[in-house]
Amino acid sequence: MGKAWLNNRLIHKAMANDSFAFSPATVAGGDAVRLQLESDIVNWLKLPLELDPEKATVVLQKQAGKFDSDEAFQLSQKGSQVVITANTTNGLMYGFYELLREKVMGTKLNTDLQSPSQPLRMIDHWDQTDGSIERGYAGASIFFGKPDKLDNPDVGNFDVKHIDGDIFRHDRTRMITYARMLASVGINAVSLNNVNVREQGIELITPKYLDGVDEIATIFRGFGIKTYLAINWAAPKLIGGLDTSDPVDPKVQEFWAKVCKNIYSVIPDFGGFLVKADSEGEPGPYQYGRDHAQGANMLGQAIKPYGGLVIWRAFVYNAHQDWRDRKTDRAKAAYNNFAPLDGHFADNVILQMKFGPIDFQTAEPLQPLFGKLRNTNQMMEFEISAEYLGHQIDVNYAVKQWYKMLNYDTKYDDLKDPHAGAVLKETAVNPAHTGMAAVGNVGMSEHWTNNPLAQANLYGYGRLCWNNQETPEDILHEWVALTFTESDNKTQSTIYKIVDTSNETYRDYCAPLGVGFMVVPHYHYGPSVNGYEYDRWGTYHFADRNGVGVDRTMATGSGFIGMYSDKLSSEYENLDTTPESVVLFLHHVPYDHVFANGKTLIQTIYDLHFQGYANVEQYVKDWATVSGKIDDRVFESVSDCLKQQLADALEWRDQVNTYFYRMSGVPDDQGRLIYE
Ligand code: GCU
Repeated sequence: MGKAWLNNRLIHKAMANDSFAFSPATVAGGDAVRLQLESDIVNWLKLPLELDPEKATVVLQKQAGKFDSDEAFQLSQKGSQVVITANTTNGLMYGFYELLREKVMGTKLNTDLQSPSQPLRMIDHWDQTDGSIERGYAGASIFFGKPDKLDNPDVGNFDVKHIDGDIFRHDRTRMITYARMLASVGINAVSLNNVNVREQGIELITPKYLDGVDEIATIFRGFGIKTYLAINWAAPKLIGGLDTSDPVDPKVQEFWAKVCKNIYSVIPDFGGFLVKADSEGEPGPYQYGRDHAQGANMLGQAIKPYGGLVIWRAFVYNAHQDWRDRKTDRAKAAYNNFAPLDGHFADNVILQMKFGPIDFQTAEPLQPLFGKLRNTNQMMEFEISAEYLGHQIDVNYAVKQWYKMLNYDTKYDDLKDPHAGAVLKETAVNPAHTGMAAVGNVGMSEHWTNNPLAQANLYGYGRLCWNNQETPEDILHEWVALTFTESDNKTQSTIYKIVDTSNETYRDYCAPLGVGFMVVPHYHYGPSVNGYEYDRWGTYHFADRNGVGVDRTMATGSGFIGMYSDKLSSEYENLDTTPESVVLFLHHVPYDHVFANGKTLIQTIYDLHFQGYANVEQYVKDWATVSGKIDDRVFESVSDCLKQQLADALEWRDQVNTYFYRMSGVPDDQGRLIYE
């Protein structure tokens, strides 16, 4: 076993493999530049340096101020040489990875200037200091926990020096490989710990743990990635010996100023804080009668001298709903809390909002704050970990969904480009402080993710952050080519076909048409049609004998639809112009309602569920054909996952169809088996 074995389990291994390098390369721009490159890039990429420019095949050319973005790069051909030009080392690194990608794929050199769509491209780990991961499905944390807790003792763990009481895993090999993989797709920010900050997690910001954080930050720094920490809002009380965490109290302000001073004395390029406040029982400024801007700006002030950021989550709700109450609506919570605060947040504060109004469901319309806020830095948040998307058991290429959300038309006529991804920049206080964030999906498991195919989401997320316009299909072509490098075209295209349709497939056999939350409560995997139906958090589908769905219209429902631009509100207010994929999120629809394609709602529910299951049956057959054509362990892991997916898709199909058959009394028009 050993490193090579580890890397073999790494999908998109062409970019993450230690031994892959071009040779020889040279550096233009003088000794100072060369030395920096040597440490920052050449070492990491194992790039043999050639000081004679004539002999080089790749020339790295650093020219400060050449491009608008310090992360941008351009490739050009000069005789037999490829020249990578960038303002900074990080730009050269991104250029180098692009060149690697093109070489492996055998495509023509792309000589366009390449510059990231979003300045902040972040992964949020929900890792906990005991090594577990909230909503983690790929084994233990790669950052925290004792080596003896490894899921698979053969994996990683090569350089561990561990002493009792230490919360860090110190698995440098694993972290370096991870950092390289993230850098190769353009990720430049990582938050290490869970947003629900508990136990020693609260103390990560104190000197006791800063050396451990610094060990990780130092690895990430080499790959152009800044390290962030999630903090507990009540830290002044919990660990600071104060009797309050009120943001206007000078003692609280001093506490945070000191925290920042300590952190930056150890980690001079620390990224900043990620904060979940007043949300799902977490403490926050409301407790002291302060609003979110007061809370966030106080932290912003403390970290400002060091150039740090405060990323403040908008996942704030307190629906306390009763099933008889049709006006209280959790979907309105973020808007109600944050729309009135537009323009109140400091320049170094960013509001991080989940892409939809509720919670990472299989289909949701866009969070209406995008486009509504005009003077606030914003990030859009996704969940790569797949909490509601099959726990990395079911194959589910969520890049499709994220692409849709980023390119969602907010229909504000006064915006230059009303598509959500572009809106982020146009409506920011500081366009450098916008971007995307996603809950990460890796752990200590053999393949980094549980289902090896789930790695396509990590790869795709990074690529999509870098270029919001790159289609999920193009991204998937790249991933398959870079990952299954030794496989023949037919094998690659079989894998492509399975992954390509998997997001729709999963959506189709789960809760129908955007209604969401028919999952097993708390666990969030597998069907439970009424599992959350009488829950006080307002996650209802309101199915009755006549129809299903949540009436969020302005005319008769909760009024949520009125939170969108006038154009979008009037489209969504009308059932006939509402997109079918989210129709039950926005309307209570009778079972006999006929959609534009001539099908009734009830028949659509049946058909989607039968189709979703049939697709998985086909995946199982197709996957069997790649046996012997790819790494055996990867083959077997995916086979095991597909076996479970097939059984679970059947459960979904039958439970959902049976439920709606019983409710509506309408049989399937094709006479397929639906249980009574
Ligand atoms: C979901 C998830 C929680 C998580 C929360 C969040 O509700 O189930 O585990 O803490 O999202 O985004 O903060």
